[in-house]
Amino acid sequence: MMNSRRLWAALGLVALTVAGCGGGSGDGLDANGRPLGEGVDPSGPMTASFASIQSHVFTPMCTACHAGAAAPRGLRLDATNSYALLVGAASSEVPSLMRVAPGDAANSYLIHKLEGHQAVGARMPLGGPYLDAQSINLIRQWINNGAQK
Ligand code: HEC
Repeated sequence: MMNSRRLWAALGLVALTVAGCGGGSGDGLDANGRPLGEGVDPSGPMTASFASIQSHVFTPMCTACHAGAAAPRGLRLDATNSYALLVGAASSEVPSLMRVAPGDAANSYLIHKLEGHQAVGARMPLGGPYLDAQSINLIRQWINNGAQK
């Protein structure tokens, strides 16, 4: 049985997930009560393609903050803006690194932020829950394969 703290947390996550997806099924949690997008999604398993990463990670897990004129560090991660603002674009926090350096995941600041070894600020998504290793590895693979759109 859920205690009330867990229940409220779950309700909050459902609200966040629904807002992030602009609709959807409304059932935004997996069997462990974590939001979908940590590697699973009703639309199918995540793959190492930009479109899949957008729909499994950026849209559901990042756009609650990273959208619109007030997006942190000017980084908008909605489907219209994310590619141009990530691939070949300098990080604002560590300008010597690209957010996504095609072919070089190890030197892509996006990966540093997702894995939690960034030089500046916090691990992403801010406050968690964080991506599982499998999802991060798919993003690494996409970058190392050339970060194609
Ligand atoms: C709850 C709000 C919030 C969420 C959700 C969030 N971020 Fe952030 N993000 C921030 C804030 C605030 C900063 C700047 C402060 C910091 O880095 O700690 C930031 C900074 C960043 C930066 C650094 C940008 C640069 O140019 O240096 C990256 C990259 C980033 N976020 C990626 C993501 C990704 C990818 C996700 C989703 C998986 C995500 N964030 C989810 C709030 C958020």
